[in-house]
Amino acid sequence: MTAAKLSHPPPSSSAFFLRGLLLALAAITLITFTHFSLKSVQSPLLYDSSTPPPTLLKVLAENDSEDLGDVYHFPEMFKLNYAEMDKKFKVYIYLDGDPNTFYQTPRKLTGKYASEGYFFQNIRESQFHTDDPDQADLFFIPISCHKMRGKGTSYENMTVIVQNYVENLISKYPYWNRTLGSDHFFVTCHDVGVRATEGVPLLVKNSIRVVCSPSYDVGFIPHKDVALPQVLQPFALPAGGNDIENRTTLGFWAGHRNSKIRVILAQVWQNDTELDISNNRINRATGHLVYQKRFYRTKFCICPGGSQVNSARIADSIHYGCIPVILSNYYDLPFNDILDWRKFSVVLKENDVYQLKQILKDISHAEFVDLHNNLVKVQKHFQWNSPPIKYDAFHMVMYDLWLRRHVIKY
Ligand SMILES: *[C@@H]1O[C@H](CO)[C@@H](O)[C@H](O)[C@H]1NC(C)=O
Ligand SMILES: *[C@@H]1O[C@H](CO)[C@@H](O)[C@H](O)[C@H]1NC(C)=O
Ligand SMILES: *[C@@H]1O[C@H](CO)[C@@H](O)[C@H](O)[C@H]1NC(C)=O
Ligand SMILES: *[C@@H]1O[C@H](CO)[C@@H](O)[C@H](O)[C@H]1NC(C)=O
Ligand SMILES: *[C@@H]1O[C@H](CO)[C@@H](O)[C@H](O)[C@H]1NC(C)=O
Repeated sequence: MTAAKLSHPPPSSSAFFLRGLLLALAAITLITFTHFSLKSVQSPLLYDSSTPPPTLLKVLAENDSEDLGDVYHFPEMFKLNYAEMDKKFKVYIYLDGDPNTFYQTPRKLTGKYASEGYFFQNIRESQFHTDDPDQADLFFIPISCHKMRGKGTSYENMTVIVQNYVENLISKYPYWNRTLGSDHFFVTCHDVGVRATEGVPLLVKNSIRVVCSPSYDVGFIPHKDVALPQVLQPFALPAGGNDIENRTTLGFWAGHRNSKIRVILAQVWQNDTELDISNNRINRATGHLVYQKRFYRTKFCICPGGSQVNSARIADSIHYGCIPVILSNYYDLPFNDILDWRKFSVVLKENDVYQLKQILKDISHAEFVDLHNNLVKVQKHFQWNSPPIKYDAFHMVMYDLWLRRHVIKY
């Protein structure tokens, strides 16, 4: 009885499987049609059921004018899901708060924390913004810690301001209580901004914190939160690329010794003849744009963490075409779940600092050329624009948010 029952397949499973397969095929066909709107007439899209979906996906990827290359974990999935996000993703921005204080508007689009300002501006300029909360996948809490910092607000006061603002939203609108904040997000680039959310425990526990400092000591939760790339814009000089012959220096770093790893880096390598390591920041007095020009001449740019793991130096390196060498014991790198950082950077642990030169010398010329070519491909992902453009830093952050949206609301 039992054996017979077990050997008998559940009656509907094959039907379900078939339905699932057909649905998948239908979805792929739909997407393919949208993609090749004009070409479709002569395209072999009238395939029979023996054509497996993966082939179609491959054709889809091959025929696209944009070369997605191999810097992504799942290039086809990224492309399809990105297209879906572009069409469907909607974010509601709370309208409360006086725009003249810390709410709604960014402080500025320049300097170390420009990423925060760009996000605030871009979300309004984009099609993702909706005025209808019922259409929203996610809710944005638009309070700028960078702006508070600019007005001289202390960290303690910042925490209270964030707490009062969020508590007011919780009591005034029905949205937070439906998921206890899980479909809400907050964006801050300044280090203290991460701490400023600590007054509302559910903001830390449930909401998505989009931050430039993804340090675990401020409660960064990798699968929930999003690492915002810190980009110091505008860049002083144009992007690097196709300039390998000019990259004659093996490694470069110049900066403040404001962390243990930076002190060690300077101590161990400052007198080296192949690594260009200086323990003093290159200032304007040294000459016009001397610091930036070094990035053009170097193969590998060392990026040790400062007071926090992140540093604008990573985006600088990417922009100028110098392979970033991440020197950190833990760092959830921006877009880590989309991009394969090992294809365009060198990721090391702090202890590797003592073997730094040998590690870099062991990278063959061919490997370096691959890294460099891939680096040029990801440059667009680490660049902010206003208005935002396809695949730029804003869209990558939106994509990370899209991956974290919650479908079910009570
Ligand atoms: C893909 O591109 C190739 C070469 O341009 C073309 O021959 C082929 O028909 C295209 N396939 C589809 C599905 O558009
Ligand atoms: C912090 O808030 C208190 C009370 O509102 C105020 O008196 C004080 O000036 C504020 N300090 C800073 C640095 O913002
Ligand atoms: C949400 O829940 C909190 C805590 O139970 C409550 O104080 C608040 O009034 C609720 N908000 C709404 C809009 O009902
Ligand atoms: C290499 O450097 C020289 C001198 O600065 C410059 O003129 C040239 O354009 C550079 N080459 C490339 C490919 O960037
Ligand atoms: C680097 O050179 C300076 C000045 O000559 C010297 O004091 C220092 O000990 C040297 N450091 C190392 C690690 O050799």
